[in-house]
Amino acid sequence: MEFHHIPVMLEEVLQYLDPKPGGIYADGTLGGGGHSLEILKRIVPDGRLIGIDRDPEAIKAARERLKAWSGSFTAVHGNYADIVEILKDLGIEHLDGMIMDLGVSSHQLDEKERGFTYNEDVRLDMRMDTTQDFSAYDVINGYPAEELARIFWQYGEERWSKRIAEFIVRNRPIETTGRLVEVIKAAVPASARRSGPHPARRVFQAVRIEVNRELEHLKEAIDRAVSVLKPGGRLCIITFHSLEDRIVKTQFQRLSNPCICPPKSPVCLCGKTPQVEILTRKPVLPTEDETGSNPRSRSAKLRACRKL
Ligand SMILES: C[S@@+](CC[C@H](N)C(=O)[O-])C[C@H]1O[C@@H](n2cnc3c(N)ncnc32)[C@H](O)[C@@H]1O
Repeated sequence: MEFHHIPVMLEEVLQYLDPKPGGIYADGTLGGGGHSLEILKRIVPDGRLIGIDRDPEAIKAARERLKAWSGSFTAVHGNYADIVEILKDLGIEHLDGMIMDLGVSSHQLDEKERGFTYNEDVRLDMRMDTTQDFSAYDVINGYPAEELARIFWQYGEERWSKRIAEFIVRNRPIETTGRLVEVIKAAVPASARRSGPHPARRVFQAVRIEVNRELEHLKEAIDRAVSVLKPGGRLCIITFHSLEDRIVKTQFQRLSNPCICPPKSPVCLCGKTPQVEILTRKPVLPTEDETGSNPRSRSAKLRACRKL
């Protein structure tokens, strides 16, 4: 299947990342290579781009799509949270900038056997990294009810989390996405099912976040990415839901104002100095044109910072 993904907020990313000829950049979420391609055009012939993705299929497709740029482009199968080690292995010390465009690609959603969508009936999976063992099957069939309820509530803000978790435990083993949807529908009262989004949407989001440890990796990655930026280097992150955006916002704030002295202290005694300047006081949102033509961009928010 051809790799299909429209890069979100491309103009805005290029504005904030500001890739310069000869610079060294990383794309932590290579996906279909849409952002990478435009970065490459701006940094060649002397620049270098490292494209990272957890999904071996994305790596394969991006290598093919970007083969004309192979002198300046290196694709790495890995986790963006391991950016320090990835650069070390490549003999690179510092970056001029890094972008992370979170979540799943349209390709991952479209490949029905990957199990990301509640519209298909396939084996429970949802792994971004298909070399990983742990999958949605293990979450749904292995977690105790309290743990399932916690992730549905925390990662999906699902108001029926407890009831859905109890129904799941009672109906195990659950092998497929179709059966999971049936169980969720049985758990959610009919009156609540009639309005709003698909009744399985929040649970699927929560399970995907859990399977791929998305929030943990994001939390770890921000400090690490900042640590490898050159002074003046930029970090741009596109998020797609409030949990991700909250992490980026609070970590950027902490890095830009790390002082822990009591507010009344006349001088700083903790010695913690700002590491970044925040470039986006408020998150940058896609234009109406973009949300009209690419529905996936509707919930996107871009935040950027610059290393001091
Ligand atoms: C939204 S897509 C990126 C699309 C890309 N910017 C483009 O324009 O084609 C997100 C990609 O990030 C990858 N991904 C998600 N979390 C990751 C992580 N922690 N480390 C590496 N890749 C990750 C996913 O496998 C997916 O391919």
